[in-house]
Amino acid sequence: MKIKLKWAAVVLVMLFALLQLTSPQRTNPAVKLDMITAANPPPAVAASLRAACYDCHSYETKWPLYARIAPSSWLVVSDVNEGRQHLDLSDWPDDPARAAKKLDRINEVVDYREMPPKKYTLLHPEARLSEEQRKQLLDWADAAAAKFRSSSTNQ
Ligand code: HEC
Repeated sequence: MKIKLKWAAVVLVMLFALLQLTSPQRTNPAVKLDMITAANPPPAVAASLRAACYDCHSYETKWPLYARIAPSSWLVVSDVNEGRQHLDLSDWPDDPARAAKKLDRINEVVDYREMPPKKYTLLHPEARLSEEQRKQLLDWADAAAAKFRSSSTNQ
């Protein structure tokens, strides 16, 4: 019985090691145009964006330890890849009309509390936005979108 248990443990450890070979690649490509640089929010809003959004929506992801270990790595890497596909704050559009649209979407998901996702703030308490931080972000996104729009029609 004891020997069987030992072998079972050895097999489990080996399977776990093999599983690690399936861990997907974590990438942080070079930043193209950073949203904070381009849209220049006040420091408090920039800090909220960095704390609550940049891990999934930029090329400046701070990968946690569990992003290195399968099977949790599959979930984290796919979330980041999907997040970047939908909104890439490291590849911000030059075109003011497109930037305004993105700000509208940011406004919407924050207003409806869809972002940052709950599963993320559970593990990252520093990404939870207070009511005041949400309001600052929403007000700024509104004003910045309007500014981008007026600059795009003035051209
Ligand atoms: C845990 C990773 C994660 C974090 C953190 C996160 N997002 Fe997302 N976000 C996603 C994923 C994945 C999607 C795409 C699937 C979906 O819509 O749920 C998405 C979708 C979006 C979209 C929709 C884009 C579109 O129009 O299709 C916007 C806008 C957005 N996020 C903004 C934000 C903002 C703003 C923050 C910070 C306040 C944030 N997200 C934080 C992962 C994240």
